[in-house]
Amino acid sequence: MKLAFATTAPESTRADALVVFAAPAATKGGSPRLLVADALPGAAVSHIEEALTALQANGKADEVRTLTSVPKIDAPLVVVTGVGRVPSGEEPTRESVRRAAGAAARTLGGRESAAVVLPVAAPEYAAAIASGLVLGAYRFDEHRGEKARAAATAPLASATVVTGRKTRAADGGKLSTDDLARAVAEAEVVARHQCWARDLVNTAPNELYPQSFAELVQKMAGKGVKVEVMDEKALRAGGFGGLISVGQGSARPPRLVTMTYAPRRAAASLAYVGKGITFDSGGLSLKPPASMMTMKSDMGGAAAVAAAVLAVAELGLPVAVTGYLCLAENMPSGTATRPGDVITQRGGLTVEVLNTDAEGRLVLGDGIAFAAEAKPDAIIDIATLTGAQIVALGKRTAAVLANDDALQGALTQAAADGGESVWPLPIAEEIRGHIDSTVADLRNIGETGTAGTLAAAAFLREFASPTGDDESGRTQPWGHIDIAGPSFNEGGPWGYTGKGATGFGVGTLVEFARGYTADRT
Ligand code: BES
Ligand code: MN
Ligand code: ZN
Repeated sequence: MKLAFATTAPESTRADALVVFAAPAATKGGSPRLLVADALPGAAVSHIEEALTALQANGKADEVRTLTSVPKIDAPLVVVTGVGRVPSGEEPTRESVRRAAGAAARTLGGRESAAVVLPVAAPEYAAAIASGLVLGAYRFDEHRGEKARAAATAPLASATVVTGRKTRAADGGKLSTDDLARAVAEAEVVARHQCWARDLVNTAPNELYPQSFAELVQKMAGKGVKVEVMDEKALRAGGFGGLISVGQGSARPPRLVTMTYAPRRAAASLAYVGKGITFDSGGLSLKPPASMMTMKSDMGGAAAVAAAVLAVAELGLPVAVTGYLCLAENMPSGTATRPGDVITQRGGLTVEVLNTDAEGRLVLGDGIAFAAEAKPDAIIDIATLTGAQIVALGKRTAAVLANDDALQGALTQAAADGGESVWPLPIAEEIRGHIDSTVADLRNIGETGTAGTLAAAAFLREFASPTGDDESGRTQPWGHIDIAGPSFNEGGPWGYTGKGATGFGVGTLVEFARGYTADRT
C-alpha cells in the first residue's frame, strides 16, 4: 500500500473514502463521538453523529459503517470505524486505533484511495493507522486459481493520514509534520514485513519446506543483511543433532539459516532464534488429523525472526541482530526418530526423545546453543511451541519466559510497544526436575498434563547457559516467546487480523531491538 501523511483539510482531500474514528458515547443512549479533533466542519460532524444514531451504531470495536453524501465532505464515502470504549478524560489507545484502521481497510477493498483523519494529533497515532491499514488490507491469493484471482477485488491501494492545517499537537506542543511523516514511513516498513511473515506462514507446506524457505530468505535479503545456509551435510558435521533428528523422517532435509545484520557502531548485539517446522505431523508420535490441519503454521517463529531482521535492517536501527532460522519438516517414516532414541545436540547435551511431537525444542536447542557461542547481549527465541500455551493464555496472548527478570520485563514492554499481547509465565523451580532423563542429560517432555509451556522453556534454558554460568561466571541472558495460539487465526477476521497467519512476533522483535538500543545509547 502507498502511504502518505498530509496536512490538507480532510473535508477537501481527494480520495474515494474519508475514514473517521468513533467511540461510544460516555452516557447511555448518547450518540457515538467522532474522534477528529477539530479537523472536520461542524456540519459534517453533526450529520455523521446523527446518521450513526439512526443506524444504531455505537462506535464499538470492529463496527464499521459506511455513509454517502455527507454534507461539506468532498469524498463520496465516509467510513466510520469504532475504537471501542474510551475512559473519560483519556485518549483511545494506539492499539484500539490500529485495530479500527484495520477493520476499515478490510471494508475498503476495491477502492483506490482513502484519507484517514488522525484521531489524536501525535506521531504514534499516525503510525498506528498506517500499520492497521497495511495489515487490514492484507490478502493471500497465491494459491487461488487464475480465474478466482482475476475476479477478486483488489485491496485498498493507497491511503493518506490527514490532519487539519490548524490541528494542535495532543501534548500542547507543536505538531511536527516531519515527525508524522517519519512515523508513517517507519510503521509501513514494519507492517510490510509483518505481511511477508504472514505470506510465509500461509504458504502451503508442499511449497514452503526447509530448502525453499531458505531460498526465499536469500532472495528477500537486501543489502545490509548477510544470509548463510547450512544444509544437512553441514548440520551433521556441525553436531546439530536436534535439527538432524527432527528432519530425518522427511524427504526434505533440514536447514539452518543465519541472517546477519551488523551495522557499524552497533550499540548492542542480539540473537533471534525462530522455530521453523515447515510442517509438524508429530513424527512417529503422530498427531490426530484435526490437530495437523494448521501445522503449516509451525514455522511462524522463524517467519517472525526473518521478517524482523529484515525490518530492523531497513529501519537501520543501531543494533546488531543475528537471526537463526531452525528449519525442518517433522514426518514419520522408516528413517524417523523413534521415541526412546537418544541424540546429541549442538554443544554436547544429550537428549532422550520420548515424544517426537515435542520437536520444536530440539531444533531450537541447536539454534540457541549455536547463537550462544557468539555471546550476544541477549538471545530471544520465538516458537509455536506448546499447546499448553493456548490452554494457559488463549489464542491471542503469547507467553514470555526468561532466565532473567529484566529481560522478561523488556520483552513484555517491547510487545506492548509493538501492539502484541503477551503475558509473563515463570519457570518455576521444580519444573527443571520434570525434564530429567533416566539415561541422558535431558528428556524432551515434562510431566504429562503439567505446565507444558514451563517445561519446554526449562528445556530451552539449558541450551542458553548449559551449566548455569560459563567459565567467566556469566549467565547468557535468554528469553522465550511461545506463540502457539497467536500465530494463526482460525476464527473470523477482527481488527487488522484476517483469517490465517497473523505475523505475530515481528512487532515485538522489532520493538525489542529499538528499545534495547534506546536504553543503551
Ligand atoms: N507445534 C506444536 C505446538 C502447537 C500446538 C502449536 C497447537 C500450535 C497449535 C508442538 O510441536 C507440539 O506438538 N507440542 C506438543 C508437546 C508435547 C508432546 C510435550 C504439545 O503441545 O502437545
Ligand atoms: Mn510437535
Ligand atoms: Zn511443532
